[in-house]
Amino acid sequence: SAMGRQEVVRDELGILHGIPLYKSFIEGWPQVKTFQARPDDLLISTYPKSGTTWLSEILDMIYNDGDVEKCRRDAIFNRVPFLEMKAPEVPSGVELLEKTPSPRLVKTHLPVQLLPASFWDKDCKIIYVARNPKDVVISYYYFYQMAKMHPDPGTLGEFLETFIAGKVAYGSWYDHVKGWWEKKKEKQLLYLFYEDMKKDPRQEIQKILQFLGKEVAEETVARILHHTSFQEMKKNPAANYETMPTNLMDHNLSPFLRKGISGDWKNHFTVAQNERFDQHYWQHMAGSDLHFQMEV
Ligand code: A3P
Repeated sequence: SAMGRQEVVRDELGILHGIPLYKSFIEGWPQVKTFQARPDDLLISTYPKSGTTWLSEILDMIYNDGDVEKCRRDAIFNRVPFLEMKAPEVPSGVELLEKTPSPRLVKTHLPVQLLPASFWDKDCKIIYVARNPKDVVISYYYFYQMAKMHPDPGTLGEFLETFIAGKVAYGSWYDHVKGWWEKKKEKQLLYLFYEDMKKDPRQEIQKILQFLGKEVAEETVARILHHTSFQEMKKNPAANYETMPTNLMDHNLSPFLRKGISGDWKNHFTVAQNERFDQHYWQHMAGSDLHFQMEV
């Protein structure tokens, strides 16, 4: 275009070690695989659309002792670099991270088996957040529409089938949440739920502080809670992704901070779709001690 920006064309996903992923990310994989973590890195790990940005803003606030102005210093995707991100004309996640002073916050959506070995070798702390799959699939459906690096999602009915088959970006939600859940048994990993954060964000922030071994004044916690509420984040250009080029994300199609509730799937699923989804859910979660709240 006249601006010299490449038009983003929707493209099919590639496959990385069996996981569907954006082709540009796959191109950057050699640098990600050999990424050098530092012992004081904190990894924020999630399946897409599970509350990554919310948790990232909370952690940046904690790292900056509740200083709202400091947390406006840059967009969230620069304050908390996205490890495996690679796109034309912008620095990759690895490049951003190499320039980031310690202690770093690092975002990833990688399934547990693909996490670069260095995070395990350095015994980095990890916080995982999981969200119930019905709300994830709805959130993902809108995200596929607004974020142009995705293939066309089709109808919601079609997208539900793609999700159930594990053919969306980052693959099977079931494998992702269960894989990270199992790691919790052997590693320094705090496993949180979006639904708990909605119900009692103060309690979840306390869990995070305890996990980090940090003490914070009560008024700072109150400031963090306020600044990271959905309403505040939605109007904060440093948190709401509105500074992303429109050719990558079109907020007119759907804002990145869309609804921020639990149970929105009820406004979208038909009775038949819900039954189909439930049946598949129980098949894949049977025997697991990992449980989800489909609403709060
Ligand atoms: P919805 O599409 O259901 O609104 P991620 O950051 O992992 O991509 O997740 C995005 C989802 O988290 C979106 O869900 C978004 O609205 C929600 N979200 C972001 N910030 C939030 C906040 N402060 N409180 C509640 N939900 C939030």
